[in-house]
Amino acid sequence: MVLRLSHVAKSYSVGGTAVEVLRDVSFDLGAGETLALEGESGSGKSTVLHLIAGLDAPTQGAIEVEGTEITRLSDTELAKMRRGTVGVIFQQFNLIPSLTVGANIAFHARLCGAFDPAWTDHLAARIGLEHHLEKYPEALSGGQQQRVAIARTLAARPRLILADEPTGNLDEDTADTVLALMLESAQEAGAAVLMVTHSARQAARMGRRLILSHGAVSERSAAGAGAAAAQ
Ligand SMILES: Nc1ncnc2c1ncn2[C@@H]1O[C@H](COP(=O)(O)OP(=O)(O)OP(=O)(O)O)[C@@H](O)[C@H]1O
Ligand SMILES: [Mg+2]
Repeated sequence: MVLRLSHVAKSYSVGGTAVEVLRDVSFDLGAGETLALEGESGSGKSTVLHLIAGLDAPTQGAIEVEGTEITRLSDTELAKMRRGTVGVIFQQFNLIPSLTVGANIAFHARLCGAFDPAWTDHLAARIGLEHHLEKYPEALSGGQQQRVAIARTLAARPRLILADEPTGNLDEDTADTVLALMLESAQEAGAAVLMVTHSARQAARMGRRLILSHGAVSERSAAGAGAAAAQ
């Protein structure tokens, strides 16, 4: 199991009052599995990803990443996990503007000592940007920039990719292409993917679908997913 959440709760203190966002969230994700996390705006989807990435701590419950209970890790150990085991992809591409496309792709892998030139070259070709490696991010379209962000994440060979509306800034056709590339290259790298999305059409491309509502998740059945995909 790559990821296991057990009875995770999260409250924020707003003006001295505790506001409960997550009440009881439990789910597993196996190696190489793909899972969509859906739910209304404000339901707590980004909060779930932040907790798994160790950017914030749950109020209650346990989060295991590759068998390690992350709420017990030190800040240094969490930072190491974020660079190595877990890769994150956001709606904003967060490329480094002063670095070329090639240097952006290699950046995280170099940071965590996992840089492999052959794998990085392969990923650049996989995302169709092998002829743009000397360019700077500003010279690329949004879809191209997100492809660079995907290659950058995969270059460090994470076991788990957390993606928060990765195609939310892209038009539908570009979003489809970018999602397909993300899923194909994650599969090739053996990485599991947990993706937050508002799009039923995109969620239907994932192996499983979870709906977050009132602080808890429920699994959408295969029949439900099929019906949504057919709409
Ligand atoms: N640091 C924080 N302090 C206080 N409240 C917060 C904090 N972060 C999130 N919240 C609240 O938690 C709730 C869930 O936020 P979250 O960003 O996880 O929702 P979401 O499902 O990702 O929404 P969206 O689809 O709009 O991105 C919201 O009501 C938000 O205001
Ligand atoms: Mg969000």
